[in-house]
Amino acid sequence: MPALSPPDERGYRATALAHPNIALIKYWGNRDPYWRWPANGSFSFNLAGLWTRTQVHFRPDLAHDVLWLHGERQGGDALRRVVRVLDATRARAGLTWRAEVVSENNFPMAAGIASSASAFAALAVAAAAAAGLQLPEPELSRLARLGSGSAARSVPGGFVEWRVGTDERDSFAYTFAPPEHWPLADCIAVVQTKPKAVGSSAGHDLADTSPLQAARIADTPRRLALIRQAVRTRDFELLAHVVELDTHLMHAVMQTSTPPLFYWTPESVRVMHQVRAWRQAGHPVAYTLDAGPNVHVLCPAEHAEAMAQQLRVMPGVQQVLLARVGGPARVVPTELAA
Ligand code: DP6
Repeated sequence: MPALSPPDERGYRATALAHPNIALIKYWGNRDPYWRWPANGSFSFNLAGLWTRTQVHFRPDLAHDVLWLHGERQGGDALRRVVRVLDATRARAGLTWRAEVVSENNFPMAAGIASSASAFAALAVAAAAAAGLQLPEPELSRLARLGSGSAARSVPGGFVEWRVGTDERDSFAYTFAPPEHWPLADCIAVVQTKPKAVGSSAGHDLADTSPLQAARIADTPRRLALIRQAVRTRDFELLAHVVELDTHLMHAVMQTSTPPLFYWTPESVRVMHQVRAWRQAGHPVAYTLDAGPNVHVLCPAEHAEAMAQQLRVMPGVQQVLLARVGGPARVVPTELAA
């Protein structure tokens, strides 16, 4: 660290890997959308085994930044968000060269797993390393946040809290507990693979149109205190209570926005009911849903295989991805070709 290649005629390059994360307390709505300064603090854990790997190569011969995802050149909003992170990196490093960014995920993007968190965490770490910056973790978290809010939480490892902060400058994520503190698992029940109609960035902008958003925000410090307590004491029952409450609050805001956002399908609701039935029968299991219909089923890692088997045979469940608690975003030696 940092993996700064010598300043030869080919430029500076570095590669980084980051995991997506699942929020236990959700980020929904922004105080300032330009800076992605969130309306509320949030809490998550990283998903080991799922990752985005991204190479950033600052080159003297490029007129524009270029983005490749799985060998396909990207433009539009994806490229604009990447340029935002690259511009912030260049400004700090005093660098003017444009970059070629090459990125790949090891999980099916069509499965509706949020890839923006791992994508922008990997981008921020690779860009900073390629530019020769030795940024402390909070600064990397802030840099990732400019591309996607939840990416701030994929920079540190393990169980992570993203503090709302007093302004955008001190709004960053930190590790609340390392991955080994509590071996939990996320069994992701994929019930729909087509892209969602309204993405989270557009959704955040609608949050304040719901009369329920103010109440959700006002109650967030209490839920954050409860989730910290649940994780600190490894209290699964408390975790299940808070995580499902938080999910219902966010989806209540979504469903009462103008226009309303309704992400649940009949299959999502069937899995939610089943999870509650399993819990009532004494199994430690809880659900949460992001801005989409797929259901994240949380349980202690030792139950994950059995849980995944049960979910796989449910009608409407197309596949189940399994992830344990993962580590931080990090520089890796691999070189990627566009
Ligand atoms: C429902 O981080 O995807 O997953 O900042 O616009 O990229 P942008 O939004 P994003 O929002 C995440 C929303 C969520 C909840 C969460 O992960 O906290």
